[in-house]
Amino acid sequence: MRSAKYVHGYSDREASRLNDQADTLDDIIHNDTIFPIGSYVLEAGCGVGAQTKIIAPKNPHSSFMSIDVSEDSITEAKKLVKSLEIKNVEFKQADIYNLPFESETFDCVIICFVLEHLHNPVQALNELKRVLKKGGTMIAIEGDHGSAFFYPDSQCAHLAIECQIRLQGQNGGNSNIGRELYPLLKSVGLLDVSVTPRMVYVDSSKPKLVEGFIKNTFTAMIEGIGEQAIKQGIIDPLTFKKGVKDLYRTAESDGVFSYTFFKGFGTKK
Ligand SMILES: C[S@@+](CC[C@H](N)C(=O)[O-])C[C@H]1O[C@@H](n2cnc3c(N)ncnc32)[C@H](O)[C@@H]1O
Repeated sequence: MRSAKYVHGYSDREASRLNDQADTLDDIIHNDTIFPIGSYVLEAGCGVGAQTKIIAPKNPHSSFMSIDVSEDSITEAKKLVKSLEIKNVEFKQADIYNLPFESETFDCVIICFVLEHLHNPVQALNELKRVLKKGGTMIAIEGDHGSAFFYPDSQCAHLAIECQIRLQGQNGGNSNIGRELYPLLKSVGLLDVSVTPRMVYVDSSKPKLVEGFIKNTFTAMIEGIGEQAIKQGIIDPLTFKKGVKDLYRTAESDGVFSYTFFKGFGTKK
């Protein structure tokens, strides 16, 4: 089953973008994704397994149940995990809003880059909390497109980013959800909520991030929604093309790019 409302779609290019994103951001967002030994962990919205392939090997003594609403993504994720000989993950096609699990099944829940796509993140978090055991930990990780700044600055690049924010909003999502993680996690009654910003700062002294983040993660994401944005008349083709070109320009030797992700932890009482 495919979710028609997922703004980035399910193309091979998007799968490859998600994998680049996860590989590039491993140290920044998953340095502390460590679960207690023996934990049973729900990964909600695993997509093609881009995060799964990082967090499962990091936690060899935990077992994972990774779910996604897209059956095709689950098929891809299974293939990926099998090819990497990762043995501690089981996959299931399921909807975050209506999870096929008994209450208090999991020791920990992790959701990464998914809440931004949901029309009702509070409902989703409540459902995730339902399946979390008392005393268990919920982890949520999200980006925030309002946090992007770069050199050389470019009005066209900001307008191109704005297209993504608008399209995601039209689909019921929120590209600027990172800044809301703390109130969101509090609103579902989680305790000991703490959120930390995870800033990705890139200049040409960090060639891996130039390729993996500026080009293959962020600019590829903006480039990917161009057709939709132009078709809907949100932006004219020339401005969009210049915006994307200017984003790639920030990857040159004198360019700088910064973006902040947010990672939240909360405990179920
Ligand atoms: C940006 S992708 C992130 C995938 C993965 N967590 C990662 O970081 O690579 C968002 C994923 O959320 C999934 N998704 C959206 N709505 C969902 C729902 N209601 N239930 C389960 N998964 C959902 C989409 O199918 C997609 O695979």
